[in-house]
Amino acid sequence: MTGYKGVIDHAEPDYTTGQRTLIARLEADLKVQLAHKQHRLAHSLSVASCAEGLALLYGVDPYEARLAGILHDWEKALDGEKIISRSRELGIDMGVDLELVAPLLHGIVAARELPARYPEVPPAVWHAVEVHTTAAAQMSPLDMVLFVADGIEPLRPKTPGIEASRALVGEVSLEDLFWESFVGGIIYVLKGSRYLWPGTIDTYNRLAASRNRAGAR
Ligand SMILES: [Fe+2]
Ligand SMILES: [Fe+2]
Repeated sequence: MTGYKGVIDHAEPDYTTGQRTLIARLEADLKVQLAHKQHRLAHSLSVASCAEGLALLYGVDPYEARLAGILHDWEKALDGEKIISRSRELGIDMGVDLELVAPLLHGIVAARELPARYPEVPPAVWHAVEVHTTAAAQMSPLDMVLFVADGIEPLRPKTPGIEASRALVGEVSLEDLFWESFVGGIIYVLKGSRYLWPGTIDTYNRLAASRNRAGAR
């Protein structure tokens, strides 16, 4: 399997019956959770498939990638004010007024709330869900797979930035693919005159330092 097309068109791995059962259950539950947001539902299932394909390409567990994709936007069911009040109830501290970072909160809330409902989902999946909006200084391969799949899944429009990332699939390492996606996300925020969370700048500096130490381009 090579390239973006191979990632999109991949065959489903040979999952166990237990794995298939949980995938089907989570997909069914997500359809209820996002019943009023069909676009978000389609995006989530598309990310799940894209993440599974990227995982197969880059030697990451495709089952965990598939689960992370299904679950990552679960809390998008809550609109702006509700995700903020839920975050306050959970004591989530972003170091700034939560009103400023509302788009970042749904992954963190999901990672806090859903493990109790789905204890059979591996902890690594919840970490990937938690950092899919913010990234983090320490990104596991699974974290990177979900982050990238969220940005390049096939239902996303063919913007120059997204097309550039898609063209890199299979051509560069997972670390470099993630870096392009992460930096592209920051540029999107800057060009749109949107609020840039200071935590993102800190993460950028930490990741850039470790890339420079590793001798990456
Ligand atoms: Fe998201
Ligand atoms: Fe998403």
